[in-house]
Amino acid sequence: MKKTVFITGATRGIGRELTKQLAALGFPVFGTGRDEARLESLKAETGCLGAVADLSDPGQAVEIYRRARAALGRVDILVNNAGLNNRKAPVPEIELADWELQYAVNLRAPMLLCREALRDMAGRRAGHIVNVVSTIAKTAQPNYSIYSTMKYGLMGFTKCLAKEAREVDVKVTAVYPGGTDTDFRTEERPEYLLAESAAKMIVHCITAPDDVVVHDLTYRPMVESNF
Ligand SMILES: NC(=O)c1ccc[n+]([C@@H]2O[C@H](COP(=O)([O-])OP(=O)(O)OC[C@H]3O[C@@H](n4cnc5c(N)ncnc54)[C@H](OP(=O)(O)O)[C@@H]3O)[C@@H](O)[C@H]2O)c1
Repeated sequence: MKKTVFITGATRGIGRELTKQLAALGFPVFGTGRDEARLESLKAETGCLGAVADLSDPGQAVEIYRRARAALGRVDILVNNAGLNNRKAPVPEIELADWELQYAVNLRAPMLLCREALRDMAGRRAGHIVNVVSTIAKTAQPNYSIYSTMKYGLMGFTKCLAKEAREVDVKVTAVYPGGTDTDFRTEERPEYLLAESAAKMIVHCITAPDDVVVHDLTYRPMVESNF
């Protein structure tokens, strides 16, 4: 039987492409996002399951895990992909709300979902958690302190999680995509990765042989030199 996959941020960009690719490979997928119309079109296009949730609300983050598990029967693979960078600013100009929103969506929600998933997966001694970080967690850039803080945090959390999860036979992967041409930023960046290419590398981690755990996978467009 194919493994089941729960994907956050499935309505756009990398998560949408990942849903399409996994559904085409026969994986039962449950996707979530906030945009109901985009989610419904994805369900119609791929046959995936799904429901909307605002991951900035911790209650909704925990509840959507329960809904995914109920709809899929169990969650074999969790992909924490939802994220945003709504504010690039020098530190003196940062407002409290900027920190709070990005903490809630980019760090707190994936941590909560990892907790829910590990509670489940530990009991079965099987499962796989994939956290979408960013190459921003491997560099430093002016005006990116809010987003970088959350992604560095997610990197640290994922490293600790990997050590705990291996004790119960659960795989943990951090992927570090470089610039990808999605709705993530308002301007178009055709020189960046296609969303489908970024998603394909996540499929690569998910479909690795059973005896392999990919702990980290970093990939960039050729124009990116932050390494
Ligand atoms: N694009 C890049 O250059 C790049 C590079 C490295 C890493 N990443 C990471 O890759 C992941 C996907 O990014 P992307 O480029 O595919 O971005 P995107 O096209 O903007 O898609 C972001 C997804 O996250 C969801 N989302 C945002 N806020 C949410 C909230 N409050 N509650 C629930 N869902 C929410 C959006 O759903 P709705 O619109 O339906 O709310 C959407 O499906 C993110 O974690 C990002 O940090 C991106």
